[in-house]
Amino acid sequence: MYKNIRAAVMGSINMDIILNMEKVPDVGENVLGTDYGYACGGKGANQATGLARLGAQTKMIGKVADDTNGKKLVENLNKNGINSSCVRTDGSQTGMATIIIDGEGKNRIIVYEGANAEIDPQEAADCIDESLDLLLVQFETSEDAVVECVNKAISQNITTVIDCGPAKNFNLERMQGATIISPNENETEALSGMFPADENSILEASKIIMERSRAKYVVLKLGSRGCSVWNGENLKIIPAYKSKVVDTTAAGDCFTAALALEYKKCGDIYAACDMGNKAGSVAVSRMGAESSMPTIEDLVKFEKNI
Ligand code: ATP
Ligand code: RIB
Repeated sequence: MYKNIRAAVMGSINMDIILNMEKVPDVGENVLGTDYGYACGGKGANQATGLARLGAQTKMIGKVADDTNGKKLVENLNKNGINSSCVRTDGSQTGMATIIIDGEGKNRIIVYEGANAEIDPQEAADCIDESLDLLLVQFETSEDAVVECVNKAISQNITTVIDCGPAKNFNLERMQGATIISPNENETEALSGMFPADENSILEASKIIMERSRAKYVVLKLGSRGCSVWNGENLKIIPAYKSKVVDTTAAGDCFTAALALEYKKCGDIYAACDMGNKAGSVAVSRMGAESSMPTIEDLVKFEKNI
């Protein structure tokens, strides 16, 4: 379905430590965890995995260190069929995320950026050329690297999708005219000053983000409510699919990868959002970040069971 799409992701690559518990601790409190594990993650690498599992020809642009985690993470990219030739391995320390998950599958994440913050903007942008159809970025690397890559892609008419995680008031004015900008609820608040609680605040926040970024579409990820699309004229809310939530980690990454590919394939933003909702729904029903990304077969099976 997406095998002719040549995509690149410029973004973070992290080793995730995932700890499960019934209730997350309050200040000064000790709680017992139920289990823990290590997993390959990072918003950039998760999105690259999402693209590759859905069949796109995928290249990762990023940085790790020449340490144990860095080696494992690059190996894992290769195993997923992702071209890692634009991943530098000379960072100071590989990125790391500690993810704590409560009994309802809700997460809290602490990220140590390490090598992700050391990506050279020019070097990263040199990996982007007209042979690409699609570029995805997030905000888990340096602002300069994101801006340089997005502006290069826009100047080459490459479909450019900005995932706004993690939440920060990024200087959107430095990169004008991407194809899609897609924050989740907290990221929307960080960028617009408004939490997208109801239709009115969804519209107002979307308008502010469009004004700041001049993107063609503003797509808000709204968790169990699904997502919304603002095209400068109309607002549409596209409801989520019902899912048994196990762990929401990387649902947003998964949504963005599917959204981007379907949009690139058919040019219909509403169909793309629906595909994002399907992929997000599969992701929340599984444990882990990268490991929760569906394959194209998983999505076909999901569609048959709707
Ligand atoms: P995360 O930071 O946990 O990776 P996110 O906060 O960036 O995720 P969300 O808005 O929570 O992103 O989820 C992304 C998409 O996943 C939603 O737009 C929706 O399509 C799907 N999704 C999330 N939560 C649920 C849920 N409880 N039930 C069904 N679908 C969901
Ligand atoms: O979006 C989920 C990701 O956020 C995790 O894999 C973690 O590495 C953090 O970057």
